[in-house]
Amino acid sequence: MNYTEAKAKLDACGQTHLLRFYDTLSDTEQYQLLEQIAALDVHLLDVFADFKGKGETKRGKLEPLGALTIEEITDNKEKFKSAGLEAIRQGKVGAVLLAGGMGTRLGFDKPKGMYNIGLTKQLSIFECLIHNLMQVVDEAGAFVPLFVMTSEKNDEDTRDFFEENKYFGYNPEYVHFFVQEMAPAVDPDGKILLEEKGRIATSPNGNGGWFISLVKAGFLGLLQREGIEWLNIFAVDNVLQRIADPCFIGATLLSGCESGSKVVSKADPQERVGVLCLEDGKPSIVEYYEMTEEMIHNREADGRLSYNYGVILNYLFRVDKLTELMNNRLQVHVVNKKVPYIDENGTLVKPEQPNAYKFETLVLDMIHLQENCLSYEVDRKKEFAPVKNPDGVDSVVSARELLQQNGVAL
Ligand code: UTP
Repeated sequence: MNYTEAKAKLDACGQTHLLRFYDTLSDTEQYQLLEQIAALDVHLLDVFADFKGKGETKRGKLEPLGALTIEEITDNKEKFKSAGLEAIRQGKVGAVLLAGGMGTRLGFDKPKGMYNIGLTKQLSIFECLIHNLMQVVDEAGAFVPLFVMTSEKNDEDTRDFFEENKYFGYNPEYVHFFVQEMAPAVDPDGKILLEEKGRIATSPNGNGGWFISLVKAGFLGLLQREGIEWLNIFAVDNVLQRIADPCFIGATLLSGCESGSKVVSKADPQERVGVLCLEDGKPSIVEYYEMTEEMIHNREADGRLSYNYGVILNYLFRVDKLTELMNNRLQVHVVNKKVPYIDENGTLVKPEQPNAYKFETLVLDMIHLQENCLSYEVDRKKEFAPVKNPDGVDSVVSARELLQQNGVAL
């Protein structure tokens, strides 16, 4: 895109201030800024205008959704497990590690997966996750293709770290990296911010774009060629995560559902987790802050909370269904965050308080695009140790305790 075209694009959406410092930039910087403007998704500005007008979108009719309980899973364990192992051996299952986030709450300046969760030895989160996956590989006698989503902010560090650590014993031929897309940040008036005089302030566009980014990176051919029918999506920060869990895979396959979600019973009614439920008859996730008092406290005849099953970002999706749904736009969530920016005088401002809005799509919204979803309960003490914060709830401290309780040497 040349300057005139960029100016016209920005004129049309009231963003010409992005060219304010253009004349002071080097040739390379000018080129890079024009490239960024060319790639700018102006649809997000409409999303922001809507958001300011009426806030987040209204939900449909919500109803509780039960789960295949731990007891039921235990009773059918052998059947589920052998179906899952068979699918893995046939190469039908891949795994997708979502590692493109900024991990701002943890406050670690490298990719979150590089964080050392060890106490007496070096044990990075990535290593921890690969060890978990290796247990399945050993049991199945087959590698599970692993796709790792990074962002342009952490891609190089992540790849180097895997390389330096020899993929933590995993077969590198089965590890594929791809980079997710970025989205701009806007100020409260909807003006896009600059992070440098020649650079738009951008951040990873949420974890909902993972399949599109995987396809854009050219991996659809590989999925089809290799006959990968299911993808297990998981977050980088749950260090107790069971990845490509044969039992979960087998249960989902045998259920006939087109997706599956691992869930945990809520620790207490007020726990701040998204809950798997039905929305207008289809699976969906309701966030804790969207729930009414009645939804929070209501119980079923067996005493369990009606909205009991919290999601832990471990889902199974069918590749054919994902391909079919690829062009559906996911809801864009607008989130208020601290974003450093260059003011009109060219000075860098580092805000103390949230000053800007970012745009994110979320993998959990993909669940609502599915006809059905197997809600699969797991024991939170064995499978849920998220590392979001340095200490307190969902932290390095709580995750270490849980790892130790599960016999992991730290
Ligand atoms: P979180 O919602 O915890 O976000 O991500 P985050 O960016 O890692 O952390 P905070 O909120 O800034 O502290 C849940 C999962 O989704 C991935 C993360 O890497 C994590 O595995 N994710 C998140 C992406 O891959 N891309 C994104 O744009 C956002």
